This record gives sequence, C-alpha cells and structure tokens, in this order.
Amino acid sequence: MESPKRVESQLTDKGYVPVYTTAVVEQPWDDYSDTDHRVWAQLFERQKAILPGRASDEFLAALAAMEMTPDRIPKFDDLNPILRAATGWELVGVEGLLPELTFFDHLANRRFPVTWWIRKPEQLDYLSEPDLFHDLFGHVPLLMNPVFADYMAAYGRGGVKAHGIGEDALVNLTRLYWYTVEFGLIRQKDGLRIYGSGIVSSKGESIHCLESDAPNRIGFDLERIMRTRYRIDTYQKTYFVIDSFEQLMDATRPDFAPIYETLAQLDSIPAGDVLDTDSVYNRGTGEGWLNDGDV
Ligand code: PHE
Ligand code: CO
Repeated sequence: MESPKRVESQLTDKGYVPVYTTAVVEQPWDDYSDTDHRVWAQLFERQKAILPGRASDEFLAALAAMEMTPDRIPKFDDLNPILRAATGWELVGVEGLLPELTFFDHLANRRFPVTWWIRKPEQLDYLSEPDLFHDLFGHVPLLMNPVFADYMAAYGRGGVKAHGIGEDALVNLTRLYWYTVEFGLIRQKDGLRIYGSGIVSSKGESIHCLESDAPNRIGFDLERIMRTRYRIDTYQKTYFVIDSFEQLMDATRPDFAPIYETLAQLDSIPAGDVLDTDSVYNRGTGEGWLNDGDV
C-alpha cells in the first residue's frame, strides 16, 4: 500500500494534527495488500461479535443492508449505489482529516469523505487519527438511515455557517459532532445502545461506554453539550444519550446563531462534570480518569 500524502502538521486546539491533500482521490483498491485485507477482516469480525445488543438496531440493520463483509475491504464503488438509492449519500476517498470548511462542504452535499488507507496490524486497538475502518465501518452504515442522513447533511450546512461566524462557534459545533456523531448513545426500549462511530469502531470503548461505572451517561441537552469539553486520547468521561434520531433532528433545527452568542458568555464545562440540571442515567465513579487533557 502506498503511504498517504501528508502535507504538513498544523497546530490546533487538538494539538498537532496532520494535514493531507484535500483532494478527492480514487480508492486504490488493487493496491491493498493481503495484510490490509486481513486487518479489515480482524476488526470487522471483532466488532460484529461485540455489537449485537450493544449497537443501535438502526446501525446493525444498516450494516447488514450495506453488504459489507469481512472477507475483503469493501469497494466504495460497490457501496455507493446502495447508499445513493437509500438516502442520496455517496462516499468519496480522501487521504485523511480534512480542513473544516472542506469537510463541511462535503457533508452539506451528501458526500462522506472516507480515508482510503487502513491501520497496520500493530494498531488494531488504537490509532490517533481516522482510518478506513473507522470511517467506513463506524460512520457509513448510519448514512443508510434517512433521519440520520438528513442530520449529517444539516450538520454540514451548519458547519459552513459556523465557519463564517467564528472560531468559538466552530468549537461549539465540533463538540456537538463529538458527543453525537462520534460518541453518541441512544435509548432503545431495551436499554442504552451505541450509535457513535468512534465507539462502534472500537472494541474497548464499545464495552466501556455501556458497561463501565466510570463514565457519566447523561440525557442529550444541546447547549449543555456545546459547552462541554472532551477527551481525544482516552475513553470519554461523559456520554450523552438521545431518545431517537428525530430528537436530534428537532433539537438542532433552530438557528444556532443566537445560541452561539449566548454560549460565548458562558464558561466551558470540564469533560467529567455533572450539573444539577443534568438528567443522569449514570453518575460516573471517575475511576481511571486523568485530571488534565480535556480539549
Ligand atoms: N440549525 C443549525 C444552525 O442553524 C445547523 C445544524 C443542524 C447544526 C444540524 C448541527 C446539526 O446552525
Ligand atoms: Co469519525
């Protein structure tokens, strides 16, 4: 496999992050090695075994409908007709993390950027940036769900708008993405389930987020989430629980401009804090938490 074309590193509020060429690239499918396909198979089988009863029914149904299988890395060109027919979304290949505005523009136009390269065998449990497994297995199945698909496109439009408002607005909006798209939990009839892609693509965190006493599990609250800092290097201290994707859609439909203005007057909330106004499913014990490092 070729290496991704890393352009430079850039200092952001998340530390140094790699910056890649922003172009859309053809998935170099023929260049994947046997090792690459084996890494996909291992990660896929591992998550398939853990996720029944843990991932949301919507996620599991969508994963099956997409016909992703463990035997080989899926081709974006095979998934696209299925996705397009379901919700009008399509996948585009990219080298890695994109600048915010480029990313928002893709989402607003129902294009989901997927990193084409996959992690190495020694990175099965952790890597610090999104790869093909995170993007494809974690994010893409729920794009088959009509309500969630609309949410993602609305988020993209909201991102373009926030980008025009300023840095603080972007910080608020990014926290919303983090605590919903990446690390969200959803309440089903039979209990809490996972829908966040950062969780469904992680063996350790898919168990931890639901079964550990350490983290807080708190009911979704838009402004509260937009004030809450988060972890990028450890499991989350707090997970937020939605009742349904419709709730997420309804809560995020209003114009955020006045909300950004209100929030600019308020302090951010440390990742592990529980407020009197929170609706608490689990008050975390805080076991294993690091005291610093919230971003
Ligand atoms: N309603 C938000 C705004 O006006 C846009 C948005 C929609 C943001 C959905 C996130 C998710 O900015
Ligand atoms: Co992600």
